[in-house]
Amino acid sequence: MPRTGAAAFALRIEPDAAAVAELVAAHLLEALEAGGSVGLATGRTMEPVYAALRRQLAGWPLPRRQRLLQGWRSFNLDEYVGLGAEDPRSFAAEMHAALSAPLALAPGRLQLPDGLALNPEAEAERYGAAVASAGGIALQLLGLGANGHVGFNEPPCPADAPCRCLALSAATRRQNAAAFGGDPAAVPARAITLGTAEILAARRVLLVVTGAAKAEILRRSLQDPPCPEVPASWLQRHPRLQVVVDAAAASALRRS
Ligand code: GLP
Repeated sequence: MPRTGAAAFALRIEPDAAAVAELVAAHLLEALEAGGSVGLATGRTMEPVYAALRRQLAGWPLPRRQRLLQGWRSFNLDEYVGLGAEDPRSFAAEMHAALSAPLALAPGRLQLPDGLALNPEAEAERYGAAVASAGGIALQLLGLGANGHVGFNEPPCPADAPCRCLALSAATRRQNAAAFGGDPAAVPARAITLGTAEILAARRVLLVVTGAAKAEILRRSLQDPPCPEVPASWLQRHPRLQVVVDAAAASALRRS
């Protein structure tokens, strides 16, 4: 386990995003096969990861593949308030296209917060409780927002924020505008997200970051003292944090 800056974590630098995806997909399959609940994420970083997972799984012998799919239990991090699975811009639709449909997962195996719940605050409470009653998360997959968010935990965010409904920042609405015709104002104003509390309670955390655009926020997340302004920096406190990045994302990290 290399030491970089103040915190100790397992850092793996792969040459490119494709190699990152293969490695991360293998970790996810291992955790799913072990029978634990897995925490899943959406976003562009995860698209090649889920493609690699589908490919790897297709190479398994049928009985082993069926065992894994029948025992599949996952909880996504977040969902936009106001978007349901029928809306192609929802995370529910993204996960359906990436995993539930191609893998023919039974309904309820892959869970997300309900973006159409009439009372989003109550839905956040229900979702947090569902994660807890499933025994928590064995392996939490995380991407990194350009502003340092994980899930939709927007800065400033304490280390113990629970699953909740919150307002998205202008920066995040800009970052995610591509899926909404390029218009930040069309991005929903609120989301439901698992909190830093549930994320830090996961038995293992796997942070996945690719591309030079995230190099500096990755450095701040891992090598500056943890602070509410960079929610991902709380991950330094996790005893089993694994970071898998490509060379471009790693380019600002200080080596020691
Ligand atoms: C989004 C999601 C996060 C995701 C992050 C990075 O807003 N809520 O869960 O990890 O931002 O997204 P991307 O991988 O597209 O850069």
